[in-house]
Amino acid sequence: MVALARSHSFTPADDEQSAFEADVLKGLSQQRKRLPPKYFYDAAGSELFERITEQPEYYPTRCEMEILRQRGTEIAQLIPPGAALIEFGSGSNKKARLLLAAAPALAAYVPVDISGEMLEQEAAELRPDFPSLKVLPIAADFTQAFELPQEAKDAPARIGFFPGSTIGNFEPHEAAAFLRNAAKTLGPGAKMIIGADLVKDAEILNEAYNDAAGFTEKFNLNLLVRINRELRGTFDLNSFEHHAFYNRERQRVEMHLASLKRQKVKAAGGCFEFRAGETIHTESSYKYTPESLAALARGVGWEPAGVWMDTDCRFSIQAFLLSEPAKR
Ligand code: SAH
Ligand code: AVI
Repeated sequence: MVALARSHSFTPADDEQSAFEADVLKGLSQQRKRLPPKYFYDAAGSELFERITEQPEYYPTRCEMEILRQRGTEIAQLIPPGAALIEFGSGSNKKARLLLAAAPALAAYVPVDISGEMLEQEAAELRPDFPSLKVLPIAADFTQAFELPQEAKDAPARIGFFPGSTIGNFEPHEAAAFLRNAAKTLGPGAKMIIGADLVKDAEILNEAYNDAAGFTEKFNLNLLVRINRELRGTFDLNSFEHHAFYNRERQRVEMHLASLKRQKVKAAGGCFEFRAGETIHTESSYKYTPESLAALARGVGWEPAGVWMDTDCRFSIQAFLLSEPAKR
């Protein structure tokens, strides 16, 4: 019996695949079709995101790097000697490199990402440059509970690093749930260093999510390529179009894939009808003010401990300390 159970046991890859299938079935069955943005990041999607960050219109990466270069030493004062740095959604590690260089007494760096290929590759490139640091990557979905490596658990403190404004890709209630879970994962004495894009003029935002070279469009459409490949999808890429615009009322950029005609599409074992002009909402990218992020974080037990901005005040890095359990 045991041997049989083992031979039929599900691997994490099976679990991920069935979660993807279930989320696509659910998301495309809703009256307002939507898909979770975490599925953008297969190997091709991660690569396309990196290309986006190099486009002149996409300012967030440049601005956050500027803050880390200019204020990294100050930000790193929050990191006690021997601590472990846990990065949520590490991607290319280029921002972590700046923080790691400013905090040489760190004992361990734990990049966490859903995109496994990029994670391993980036960790391998980082190790020779930081020989005394333990680099311990974890391929995981950070919206689900996951176990930290023992070295990170044994460290005197765990510091969360969540750059890129990836927090903005959560709905506000999801961002609150994420911060509540991060407090549990990181434990007593934890701190969080969060990169958050700031509310600003619609024109700058609309350009940032509609780059002239078309990488954001490719990134958005790649979700359909992935569904076609992994979930027996029949999406015709020529009959869907990238839409991205700032929704001022909700302080978020919305990305959609709009159907150019009335059509039926099969995917994940379901059949879905689209009206001409109907969209799949594929991503929201919420923009914050220091006050609105502080209010959200305070609500789940994190006290604001510092705000840094780039020279044009487009982007912020904000630090938070875990308040005492009695206050949570
Ligand atoms: N931190 C990098 C990358 C930001 S892109 C930067 O600032 O440039 C968002 C990253 O988060 C991607 O690498 C993506 O694979 C990862 N990601 C998105 N949703 C995730 C989830 N639910 N769990 C783990 N990683 C996730
Ligand atoms: C990762 N995330 C914060 C990016 C953003 O700006 O919302 C993803 C992205 N989507 C389109 N362009 C970049």
